[in-house]
Amino acid sequence: MTPDPVWLGPRRARRLAERFGTPLFVYSRRLLRGRCRALQRAFPGAELHYAMKANSNPSLLRLFTRWGLGIDAVSPWEVALALAVGADPLKVLFTGNNPSPADLAAVHASGVRVNLDALPTLEAWARLSGPGREVSLRLNLDVGGGHHRHVVTGGRDSKFGLTLAELPEARRIAGAHGHRIVGLHQHIGSGVFDVKLFLAALEPLLALVPDFPDLSFVDAGGGFGVPYRPEERPVDLAAWGHAVLSRVQRAREEHHRPGLRLLLEPGRYVVCEAGVLLSTVTTVKPRGDRVWVGLDTGMHHLVRPALYQAWHPVRSYPRGRRERPTARCWLVGSICESGDVLAEARALPLPEAGELVALGNAGAYGYVMASHYNLRPRPAEVLVDGDRFTLLRAAETFEEVVNPREIARANKMR
Ligand code: LLP
Repeated sequence: MTPDPVWLGPRRARRLAERFGTPLFVYSRRLLRGRCRALQRAFPGAELHYAMKANSNPSLLRLFTRWGLGIDAVSPWEVALALAVGADPLKVLFTGNNPSPADLAAVHASGVRVNLDALPTLEAWARLSGPGREVSLRLNLDVGGGHHRHVVTGGRDSKFGLTLAELPEARRIAGAHGHRIVGLHQHIGSGVFDVKLFLAALEPLLALVPDFPDLSFVDAGGGFGVPYRPEERPVDLAAWGHAVLSRVQRAREEHHRPGLRLLLEPGRYVVCEAGVLLSTVTTVKPRGDRVWVGLDTGMHHLVRPALYQAWHPVRSYPRGRRERPTARCWLVGSICESGDVLAEARALPLPEAGELVALGNAGAYGYVMASHYNLRPRPAEVLVDGDRFTLLRAAETFEEVVNPREIARANKMR
């Protein structure tokens, strides 16, 4: 038997629900710290940039920057938030994909480093930022991987990156503006379990080192897989680190670049398992051999099952000691859409309305992908540290979601 992946036990689950209500995103400080430390131990000397797209709660970001992580940011607001919670601009790398002129202007004003992935973007950046700048290039070297085709970011079917064929023109643009290409970057995809694939992707990246005299870093992206299903095994991070670091060291020696730095951009690995989405059963509807278990959350808070057919671990918290029949449960939300299914065909002691249910592995790509669909607020977020609970963000109020100015404007319409 694998241990229950939803780490939140019944006592704390009930206390949290009483104090903060549900739905509620709950994060474990101990697990977050552990994942950061594990990465730092496995990749000594590498610069770890937390991919804040996975979870941009300001308090968590603050913790990660204090614990020594840099930031991978992909929008001007991500950059602004990282800087607002104290990240060092030199440890923030903005990786833009199809940024608008306004995006580029905002990022330029912020003073962070940039990683660009299209020839017109390089041209626009050069014109905007003036001569003598440093840039990094995001490449697509035809290696991709990941848990679902939507998250594979290398290869022909991916919109990301400059191809090898485009590199001469990229260098011409940089040269014409006196820009130095100091970084080469790729991110092959998200949810990669195979270190061999990751290493294979490094080969074409490292092969380019001799062509770039100003290079100070290579960035191999993020994507470290995290187990969701019971049959999935955690990656051997220490072995992964050893393999990657030795390969990069060999490249430093071969190409006489002792100072070449390695950057990595893990997102999911840092936050995924530390987060649980706690909710209350609102309705139980037996239908033949299945039971619809309605929750006070749904695809508006955790869209991954609907979007990627993602499987999230589930735990229920039955009240009392009464024997319950085991039921095949479909955990569904309150959204008016049949795709609003968070978990299918799970064997659980038949839940009752008012009881708690939690979904695990909700720390990454949970809150950040939440929406106001059906005009519902995003939930609160709490950090637990043993028995200490800290509210990091309150649930949204009606006025925060629907600006009263817009209601006033509507009521002025003829
Ligand atoms: N670096 C870049 C350039 C990326 O595009 C990403 C993720 C990362 C790093 C971090 O990847 P991670 O270590 O978190 O796997 N919403 C999807 C995942 C999309 C990932 C997008 N890019 C999901 O819920 O599975």
